[in-house]
Amino acid sequence: MKRVIRAVLDNDTAGTALQNALEIDRRGLLAASLAGAAAMAAQPTLAAETPAKAASPRRVWKLADGWRFHLGHAADPARDFGFGAWQRSFAKPGFELTEAAKPDFDDAAWEDVRVPHDWAAGLPYAPPASVPKDKEDFSAAHGFRAIGRDFPQNSVGWYRRKLPAFSAADKGRAIWLEFDGVFRASMVIINGYHAGGSESGYAPFRVDIADFLKYDGTPNQLTIRVDASLGEGWFYEGAGIYRHVHLVCAAPSHIAQWGTFVRAQLVGQGASIQIDTELAHLGEKATQLQLRYRILSPDGGVVAAGDGPAATMSPNATATQSHDFALPKAQLWSPKAPHLYRLETQVWADGVLVDQVETPFGIRSIRFDAKRGFLLNGEVVKLLGVCNHQDHAGVGSAIPDDLHRWRVATMQDMGANAWRSAHNPPSQALLDICDARGMMMLAETRANTTSPEALDQLDRMIRSSRNHPCIIAWSVGNEEGHQGTPRGRRLSARLAARAKALDPTRPTHQAMDQGWYEDGAARAVDVVGFNYRTDKIAAFQAKFPDVPVIGTETASTVATRGEYATDAARHTVRAYDTEHPWWASTAEEWWTIVANSPSIGGGFIWTGFDYRGEPTPYPAWPSVSSYFGAVDICGFAKDNFHYYRAWWRPDLPQVHLLPHWNWAGKEGQSIEVWAHGNTAQVELLLNGRSLGVKPMPRNGHLAWQVPYAAGTLLARGLDAKGRVVVEDRRITAGAPAGLRLSTSATRLAADGASVAVIAAQVLDRAGHDMPIAASTLRFTLSGPARLLGTGNGDPTDHTPDHSAERRAFNGLAQALVQSTGEAGPITLTVSGEGLRSAQITLFAHQL
Ligand code: GAL
Repeated sequence: MKRVIRAVLDNDTAGTALQNALEIDRRGLLAASLAGAAAMAAQPTLAAETPAKAASPRRVWKLADGWRFHLGHAADPARDFGFGAWQRSFAKPGFELTEAAKPDFDDAAWEDVRVPHDWAAGLPYAPPASVPKDKEDFSAAHGFRAIGRDFPQNSVGWYRRKLPAFSAADKGRAIWLEFDGVFRASMVIINGYHAGGSESGYAPFRVDIADFLKYDGTPNQLTIRVDASLGEGWFYEGAGIYRHVHLVCAAPSHIAQWGTFVRAQLVGQGASIQIDTELAHLGEKATQLQLRYRILSPDGGVVAAGDGPAATMSPNATATQSHDFALPKAQLWSPKAPHLYRLETQVWADGVLVDQVETPFGIRSIRFDAKRGFLLNGEVVKLLGVCNHQDHAGVGSAIPDDLHRWRVATMQDMGANAWRSAHNPPSQALLDICDARGMMMLAETRANTTSPEALDQLDRMIRSSRNHPCIIAWSVGNEEGHQGTPRGRRLSARLAARAKALDPTRPTHQAMDQGWYEDGAARAVDVVGFNYRTDKIAAFQAKFPDVPVIGTETASTVATRGEYATDAARHTVRAYDTEHPWWASTAEEWWTIVANSPSIGGGFIWTGFDYRGEPTPYPAWPSVSSYFGAVDICGFAKDNFHYYRAWWRPDLPQVHLLPHWNWAGKEGQSIEVWAHGNTAQVELLLNGRSLGVKPMPRNGHLAWQVPYAAGTLLARGLDAKGRVVVEDRRITAGAPAGLRLSTSATRLAADGASVAVIAAQVLDRAGHDMPIAASTLRFTLSGPARLLGTGNGDPTDHTPDHSAERRAFNGLAQALVQSTGEAGPITLTVSGEGLRSAQITLFAHQL
């Protein structure tokens, strides 16, 4: 630590050094000098920022707060802050592109927002009457939001924010913005200059801003125009700065962005570690640079350290240095024990520490084998996978980190060990969580083509993410129109070669729904994915016995949570494992094939979570979100969740009954009753009377026809000797009378980012779950917190995402509560007509 701080003070001119000292001080690591305090007073914007990393000469700010937002207009410059008017063009860099770029532009009427932010989630739904007839299908696929070419007034968003002030001492430093994802066609303007942006709404990107900054101690103006008029997919895509943004200020000699690549190979009980580091030197004179490394074990101890050779770099040069370490013992990364190492890399320039970055990594081996399936650390592991898009009830695609964490945990509770980020690169936040929680990731690029833009998107995905141990393969395509053709093969081969050049450690992959047997993309990648058609895998294996295969979209059952009849008028689908589109199958059908085929590496169900858009089998108003999930769009479990949980977590004895037992008016009528579970046998009892014991078929389910009588339906999971191991019951509930609240967390960090996921369940007077309640609930918060949004999992619900009022759907609703920067108790009160209201208290703690 001492060395770091001395280096900062020695190397930088006073202003920068003092800023660093102050940043370090806010973490309680160094007492600020009096002079430092004076510098802070002179730099109010810096004082308001919280650098994400402190004890390094590199300064990094997470730009989460302080954003102002306003809609522009995709077709009318007058309503688009002048952008596109004839006198405002790209003709002369620095000429005013838009009035919104002026530092003194009056943005008082703009909304205060926090990043991640998805403005589409705040837009109304657009019923077909407001959409031209020929667009109807497409609107359904996108979730019927009033965004896109037909809604120019909603499709452009503007963001403004002040950036920290920089001083003369910062001149010559490398200063850039890192965007993890902005949907889409973003234009980043710094002090009136168009500095960069990204066409892609999914790939991370960097904008160098040093040339456009002022270095006079006054704040800099950042303005961003985002244009979501066009889509990139066939699902809800959100709009705006929906992933994190960082500002980085590094010394002229520094480690390039994404410039560290750590490769670990298992060697006996240990590992060999190869580190490639890309150095950039922007200085004006030749400088002698040296890299220093430390590797910290999962327990935090230093397990290796070493210096690279001193090398002289000429001005404006980049160079890559490699360094190897041998670790005699390695703690391996796996879903069961996701051990993470950390690499600290320092840059020393002429004997002074000038830059430092930290890179988490894992040590594990991965291999896909045509006979044995998928192997992790040399052992066969079946991929129990889920495909997911990146939206959630209440927030759209602006998923806070805690919600990502909760979504991953929900899938792990089901037994999933792998996630397919369909059909786009995953966010860094999600990858960090998958690394830490042991969720394997199939990462996918958006565009299966070789235009410079598409190749660049692939590069950005791989370079930004290749140190994440969770990633097990790079997917270069999904169900492409040209997948089974020589052209499809050519395009995928080029993408795959590029992926291999950037990351020789991982296999390439493509998801296909036909053309596997042709001279197409299946010949170009290491691992071939089958979307549905699990029954066609055997024929492929017979023809190509050396090519590893996995199921990349499996099942695709459709179901409405808590509904047990398919009713086209109400747009409901029964939640038994029987319903699926023509190209798909039930959960039981595909899983039985894959579970019994050692050569199939596993499968990824379509989907883990319901998502907005693609409301198959009702691709029409009023359905606005999908029916495919094992859980609904809030993460409430559908019955199929329990099918997977039973067979994906065989060590946890389980039994789950469906349907609910509230069938007033159907007395005496036969009701189809199912049990999912994994105990040897299941006994079913109605009101204490046994309806018999049945053996549970492996990877199957049990079914009975039971004449309805109100009361208690009980399933007893029995072991082979008939002993009760576990039970589940459905109790006929009376009218809605009360509520039960449960939360993912009772303690939040008072950091303005932490989130509690809160479920409200409607109860009857006796306290039983009321499974068909539709009471309208009101969510009221007090204390230092904000309500991000609410949801209920009903694919036909049109209540605005951010509404504090939400109808319970089949007894359940969800609220997402986020801390502010202040500490203190937070109380959420939920009330509804005829219901005894309920409260839950959380506490926000100062970090
Ligand atoms: C697949 C496609 C997915 C989704 C799914 C719906 O063909 O890859 O993105 O559209 O069908 O069943």
